Amino acid sequence: MIQTDFSLLHHNTFGVDVKAKRFIEYSSAEELYKLILDGEITDPYMHIGEGSNLLFTHDYAGTILHSRIGGIVVVKEDIDSIWVRAGAGINWDHFVAYCVEQGWYGVENLSLIPGEVGASAVQNIGAYGVEVKDLIDSVETMNIYGETKTFAVADCKYSYRNSIFKQADMKNVFVTHVCFKLSKVRKFVLDYAALRDEVEGSDGLTLPIVRAAVISIRKRKLPDPKELGNAGSFFMNPVVSYERFKELSEEYLGMPYYQLSDTAVKIPAGWMIEQCGWKGKTIGAAGVYENQALVLVNKGGATGQDIIALSDAIRQSVKDKFNIDITPEVNII
Ligand code: EPU
Repeated sequence: MIQTDFSLLHHNTFGVDVKAKRFIEYSSAEELYKLILDGEITDPYMHIGEGSNLLFTHDYAGTILHSRIGGIVVVKEDIDSIWVRAGAGINWDHFVAYCVEQGWYGVENLSLIPGEVGASAVQNIGAYGVEVKDLIDSVETMNIYGETKTFAVADCKYSYRNSIFKQADMKNVFVTHVCFKLSKVRKFVLDYAALRDEVEGSDGLTLPIVRAAVISIRKRKLPDPKELGNAGSFFMNPVVSYERFKELSEEYLGMPYYQLSDTAVKIPAGWMIEQCGWKGKTIGAAGVYENQALVLVNKGGATGQDIIALSDAIRQSVKDKFNIDITPEVNII
């Protein structure tokens, strides 16, 4: 389906009203191949998912591509594990709900994360002690020349909210399917204190209980994009040296942190932003969410530029107070 002068209002969860010169959706790898053969995908182009990690700062004078590839198929199983192949265009939380219904363990901590299956593998989404890279077996792709390639998880160069698919030279590679390796054996990741506290007291922990607990934490802390435009965490949590962490923790008793190694410590950017007094503050139509300072929100009618102006002011405050640079996690277009 090819549309021109297309409003992206419903294709970015920030709810920024911008237009794309052309907007193309396809429902299978074969359809994508045909679009390529027909010369429909011309420069400049950009592939999006649900638009839940994007901030448009202007109209897009090119072609936006969006996958509607569906289908969840079991490709292999053994006694302990099951390999499940899912289309890139499936809503991520529908996929999680399906896995939970089937009794497959692994993705439940990633319940209610906005976005789609394809983007999950690009962004290496993560929450409550789990990253999707831990559950991916392989990623199937097609490039702008119509060539297909399957990347084994080890070749995806996964790190915190990052992968090979985010490299500039991979812009012409589109994810068509993701194959997950899930567990048939009961196991839960309850390293994260907030999740442990939420499920405490439930006898006989089950997948639906863990999923419900994650959903309930997220609903308390994170705004629903249908009610208040946002793209989840706007910034990444920065990593500092152990020495810098020691200095900070002596100055700010009780400062939260995640120790990554003997030399590196991750400091929650949301905490620093709150310390700078930004929680609940607004500049024009752009605001800092009142329950989680890492989330920037569109209070109604904000432009991409309004949100960038707020982001810049926050980054400067964090730099002035903590001498730490924080960088956006959201892709700014
Ligand atoms: N904190 C504050 N004030 C705030 C926000 C957080 O003091 O306004 C403190 C919290 O009390 C806690 C710590 O900072 O001690 C961490 O906060 P939280 O557990 O809410 O997690 P986060 O580090 O802010 C990350 C991910 C989220 C993910 C949660 C849970 C990033 C950029 N964000 O947030 O992912 O859901 O952990 O695992 O890593 C996303 O990527 O869009 C996202 C929502």
